[in-house]
Amino acid sequence: MITDLDIEKPKRRLLEWYADNKRALPWRANRDPYCIWISETMLQQTTTTAVIPYFEKFIARFPTLEALATAEQESVLEMWAGLGYYSRARNLHKSAKVLHQAGGFPKTHVALMEFPGFGPYTARAVSSLAFDEEVGVVDGNVIRVLSRFYGRDWDWWQNKARVEIQTLVDQWVAGVPSYEMNQALMELGRTVCTPKIATCMMCPLRLDCTALKENLIFSLPKPKPRRAREIWIWEPQIHRLGEKLMLTKNTTIPFAKGHWVLPGQAKKVQAKPGQFDYKHTITHHDIYVTVRATAPVEPAADANTDTEENLWVESKEIRKYAPTSLVQKALAAVLGGGASRKRL
Ligand code: ADE
Repeated sequence: MITDLDIEKPKRRLLEWYADNKRALPWRANRDPYCIWISETMLQQTTTTAVIPYFEKFIARFPTLEALATAEQESVLEMWAGLGYYSRARNLHKSAKVLHQAGGFPKTHVALMEFPGFGPYTARAVSSLAFDEEVGVVDGNVIRVLSRFYGRDWDWWQNKARVEIQTLVDQWVAGVPSYEMNQALMELGRTVCTPKIATCMMCPLRLDCTALKENLIFSLPKPKPRRAREIWIWEPQIHRLGEKLMLTKNTTIPFAKGHWVLPGQAKKVQAKPGQFDYKHTITHHDIYVTVRATAPVEPAADANTDTEENLWVESKEIRKYAPTSLVQKALAAVLGGGASRKRL
């Protein structure tokens, strides 16, 4: 037994609160595992409000698992553009193909985790929200709610603490509709028990909340130690051949790895450079970008041969291959669309 706290009453209060306060979100319209999967994957990236338009656009374009499974990867990335973490979109697409071939979604998190791109969170979210599997879903919101409720300063990014948290959340969903309880815990974390403004007066768990009793609300959960930031200089080049631009597969630079980017040098430095066109941040990389443009040349008959590493792409198609804002900003800096001081 991890804790002696009797959670039956708090569980009931939380479910009642959720029934009265849940937001009408587009992915709550039905319990289609496909829609739940897409929305939960997007919700790992950003806020609910930010996800809504992306979700609606994505589902309009790929309304079923089959539609996604048979789509071109570039069009999937294009619909994902702006959400970031493109490896998630690639995995989503890969999984859609395998799931479609396998005849659809299996109903347990254990079986779902066999598919690429299904981690502990997504697998449990789909199995519980679509198929009522009695398993707890652990995301940052749930960690915050429970760390405050139990008054625990877990090292929640460590495996040992995660196992303990999972056991506790499984107790919260035991014997109640897990579809409701998992979303109630997440919703409470997103709307009431938020990181900076916890509106404890509105909280259905306030009577039993340890952090509230002990005045620990704003010191819990413990902040994750930050990874040291790295400063990088990136000098992408714009090579133009007629209407085409060159992209190269990034296999070496640690940010945007595996993506099509503009060719050019990157180096890690100790201090921010004096001059640069713009700064872009990806995870712990602060990237100072100076774009170099070469004059356009007329295409020779054999000049635009694509290779594994290099691709000549029509400018209007660039977004399909390189949707990252890192590349989009570099193109805008040179080709216009806002900051056009380096027009060719
Ligand atoms: N965060 C991630 N998924 C969610 C859901 N289904 N409801 C509320 N918040 C969430």
